[in-house]
Amino acid sequence: MPKLKRRVTKAVFPVAGLGTRFLPATKSVPKEIMTLVDRPLIQYAIDEAREAGIKEFIFVTSRGKSALEDYFDHAPELENALRKKGNDELLKTLKSTNMDSGAIAYIRQHKPMGLGHAVWCARRLIGNEPFAVMLPDDVIAAETPCLKQMTDAYQETGGSMVATMEVPRDMTSSYGILDVEDANRELATVKGMVEKPAVADAPSNLAVIGRYIITPDVLNTLHRQKSGAGGEVQLTDAIAAEIGEGRPVHALRFKGQRFDCGSKAGFLQATVSFALARAELQDEFSSYLRDMAPLIRVAE
Ligand code: UTP
Repeated sequence: MPKLKRRVTKAVFPVAGLGTRFLPATKSVPKEIMTLVDRPLIQYAIDEAREAGIKEFIFVTSRGKSALEDYFDHAPELENALRKKGNDELLKTLKSTNMDSGAIAYIRQHKPMGLGHAVWCARRLIGNEPFAVMLPDDVIAAETPCLKQMTDAYQETGGSMVATMEVPRDMTSSYGILDVEDANRELATVKGMVEKPAVADAPSNLAVIGRYIITPDVLNTLHRQKSGAGGEVQLTDAIAAEIGEGRPVHALRFKGQRFDCGSKAGFLQATVSFALARAELQDEFSSYLRDMAPLIRVAE
């Protein structure tokens, strides 16, 4: 008998954080609207989700995020103006940002009580099915989109899954860190997970990054869960509890390059990389960078 396809069609985008690392910009501009070249961070996440077969997009927002809702609205005046000018290419770009009616939902997290709490806020929209969680400030350049790599692997594993990558040992205290059975495998079985451990206590250098597939059991755990590291309700703690319950959790070493666009250095690195990948910018921008190189050496 052919194997039953496990489908993940809903994705939660927790975007209710304060974005303090980008103040003062994030005083009025949601971090997810900040652009790499000319596309907001959120657009990269939405495109990745679509390519993985996501049909319903659930945003967990907070006060001051209305620009995000406006971004996904249709823009008839702009579309008409471009149509009149015969600017078909830009019209196509603009239309690709439109979301189908009813495909997108917003729910508020009234207090930034942590990522786990943000996901829990979406519980009624998720219902009783596995779902993806995507953090838009992790932008991943990959031939096969990261979430698609995960949903493909999920066909084999079921259960919950996190995306993982190696980080330098001295950075382990900034991440959720995995304890896995088979550290060298692309798809590893997770034995344990600890949020922001002291470097000496980190069970490995495999960090959890902002892509997850989560089973509804995790929502039940979040319902009971107290705050963890940093006084926040941690999603990794709720996923780790799955292991204690005897349910499988896997970690996928995805293929691709992840940019931490929640940090200034990561955001700048992503900007340079994405600009260099754009045909229309490549020549001008790379010659600018070449001219800059001697100045950088002097500054060092
Ligand atoms: P971060 O840890 O990057 O926090 O959250 P932040 O508030 O966005 O940014 P900084 O650290 O103050 O600069 C990771 C993701 O989890 C969401 C954030 O919006 C981001 O997408 N999040 C975090 C919530 O939705 N709610 C929370 O309570 C915390």
